[in-house]
Amino acid sequence: MKVLGIETSCDETAAAVVTEKGEVLSDVVRSQTELHAPFGGVVPEVAARDHAVALPPIIERALADAGTSIADVDGIAVTHRPGLSGALLVGVLTAKGLAWGARKPLVAVDHLVGHLLAVFLRREGAPEPPPHPFIALLVSGGHTAIYRVDRPGIDGMRELGATRDDAAGEAFDKVAKLLGLGYPGGPVVDRLAARGVAARAPVMLPKPLRGRAGGFEMSFSGIKSAVARHVEQTGVPEGEALADLCAAFQAAVVDTLVDKTVRAAREEGVGRIVLGGGVAANRGLRARMTEAATAAGLSVHVPPVASCTDNAAMIAYAGALSLERGEIAGLDLDVFTKTALERVTRKGGGKRPSLPR
Ligand code: KG4
Ligand code: ZN
Repeated sequence: MKVLGIETSCDETAAAVVTEKGEVLSDVVRSQTELHAPFGGVVPEVAARDHAVALPPIIERALADAGTSIADVDGIAVTHRPGLSGALLVGVLTAKGLAWGARKPLVAVDHLVGHLLAVFLRREGAPEPPPHPFIALLVSGGHTAIYRVDRPGIDGMRELGATRDDAAGEAFDKVAKLLGLGYPGGPVVDRLAARGVAARAPVMLPKPLRGRAGGFEMSFSGIKSAVARHVEQTGVPEGEALADLCAAFQAAVVDTLVDKTVRAAREEGVGRIVLGGGVAANRGLRARMTEAATAAGLSVHVPPVASCTDNAAMIAYAGALSLERGEIAGLDLDVFTKTALERVTRKGGGKRPSLPR
């Protein structure tokens, strides 16, 4: 089975052709980062307009790279949630047009389900695929949460805890902005942190909700605010001091992510941890997670960066599995800004009153 996947939920325009076994026949991603950089973040209307221009040729290229055609694929999978509604609409309307014109089944994919299954994509650098169940840490610019994954599909995935405020990537981006390091900030902070020493940083950063506090919920805005206060008082550090501050910030974020994920695996009695999302590219996170998990007797499965950052291959793969289960969307498919996965964490803090499982 060959499925065409389409992804336009945020600031990557992407199309890919993938089989139900996870073989990546093509994978085309175009990032809008440069377009949004002057604004220091993603501007929704700019994103939607650019998707509308960029998507058709990207789909053509994905089909050509895979040596196939629209007539030859078994289905068309598209991200319809969560994301920016204008951006999502571009992908969904395009997918509907193709499905209708070529008389192919249309499959709706939740972007987070795509991320949680990206570890199964078979491509260079892919880790040993984990058997189910596994604990997944999804960390990106828009999402930061820990899931238990028992089966592919919405009903087999459960959030154990998420951030109450900023996503981890958002915190990296905001701190980079404060330090005048440009957008997106994660990769720059990562590079500087590798040269710095956290213990030498001139400021003590908080570790909110560490340990058992808040269950598996996390919080990153306090760490960012502490950096902001420090910069207000003493100005932006330079040279070695800047690298030390980046190292301290990164260590504070990474410690929380690792601590909560390893704790979740232990409490759930699950022996495998999977990483996903753009922040999974962070070298500090990869190293600390591997170290902590190994010490706890857990295996860690870290997909290659191309599978972690936003892409359409994960959408095509999740779509292929849905198609195998007969989950076909109608041409009245709508878009939603929120995920369909059940959430237990509220923005602003506090668990939801009752948690149906
Ligand atoms: O998954 P992604 O490509 O897009 C979404 O947010 O959906 O993730 C982008 C985020 C940005 O916040 C970026 O700063 C962060 O991932 N990021 C990193 C690194 N590479 C990307 N954060 C920390 N360290 C990195 N090496
Ligand atoms: Zn994403």
